[in-house]
Amino acid sequence: MKRIDVAEIKPGMILAEKIVSPRGQVLAEAGTAITAQQLLHISYYGIKTLSVQDAEDAIEKYDFEAPDEFIGETQSWRILNSEEFAEFKRAYVKCSDRLEEIVDSFVHKQAGLNDKDLLDDIHTVFEEHSTGLGIMAMMLNIQEIDSTTYRHSVNVAIISRVCGMWMGIKDKKELDVLTMCGLYHDIGKSLIPHDILTKKGPLTPDEYGRMAEHPLLGYNLLSDVQIDRRIKLAALQHHERNDGSGYPYGLTKDFIGEFSKIVAITDVYDAMTADRCYRAGICPFEVIAQFQRQPPAKYDQNVLQVFLKNIAHSYIGTGVLLSDNSRGIITMVSDKALSSPLVKLDDGSFLDLRERTDMFIKACI
Ligand SMILES: [Fe+2]
Ligand SMILES: [Fe+2]
Repeated sequence: MKRIDVAEIKPGMILAEKIVSPRGQVLAEAGTAITAQQLLHISYYGIKTLSVQDAEDAIEKYDFEAPDEFIGETQSWRILNSEEFAEFKRAYVKCSDRLEEIVDSFVHKQAGLNDKDLLDDIHTVFEEHSTGLGIMAMMLNIQEIDSTTYRHSVNVAIISRVCGMWMGIKDKKELDVLTMCGLYHDIGKSLIPHDILTKKGPLTPDEYGRMAEHPLLGYNLLSDVQIDRRIKLAALQHHERNDGSGYPYGLTKDFIGEFSKIVAITDVYDAMTADRCYRAGICPFEVIAQFQRQPPAKYDQNVLQVFLKNIAHSYIGTGVLLSDNSRGIITMVSDKALSSPLVKLDDGSFLDLRERTDMFIKACI
């Protein structure tokens, strides 16, 4: 057991002691895996440190499972079994297979980058879902298939395009450039040894150093290609952070491209949701809470707020399972507390998660 700073606590760590608010309300029980939603609540009370069990005990996929009675009727299950999802999956798999072929022949055989077919595939994905909301729900569920670099790149491309649409970008050519930023952001990884890329468990400092070269490798690969400069910059800058805490150069906000800033967010979003697969579906409010725990100066807030707000709002009307196993429907989302919506419970009463800091959303059902 050790006592550590709340800012350093990762969701999934097991609490060694229960957490109690200044008013005596139990916010989390000892022996449970802490969630990002609980960590957000705790920060409101000014609690600075927490006792957790050894780091090795942390649960990486700490998501909760809905009780068996919900299996087969969850939101996730409905999406996964819909004809719309089957179609989406076909277009998606085609796109990631094509991306793999194109990148492979570009890197090894010096062939050109053929983006037209790829963009056609992405346009097919979007034709049916012009608002992007349906796409985001399907993106959460496609994670169950597998997560190679190519799948991840297609995810980041699709999510970046949706984010661009939400930000009000209407010009199709601009949206195509943003989509390409996502498709090629990790192209440098094709030059990283396979055993490092696929290693399970933590990387050694040496391996981490190799991995951290991928933005520069990607930029170099693309440097002579006749494509929009923003695509090359996204490959170079997607791990830079506005506050200078990123890599490879530790650039600050004025030196990072606008599209690179979008990809920085969608890349992290995809990585977060890829970790969060469980049979009852992924709880988007937990992902939102994880973003909200980050220092505000880290990401472009204009992009992040629009992105998270749209995701949260798209769940209004969705059934949720709360931490005490009660059920309800998301009724209202406040822009100031996106991960703590107002829930109408099965008995007709309302529960405001902004006030009930001892509760959180376990799953969308
Ligand atoms: Fe990357
Ligand atoms: Fe990435």
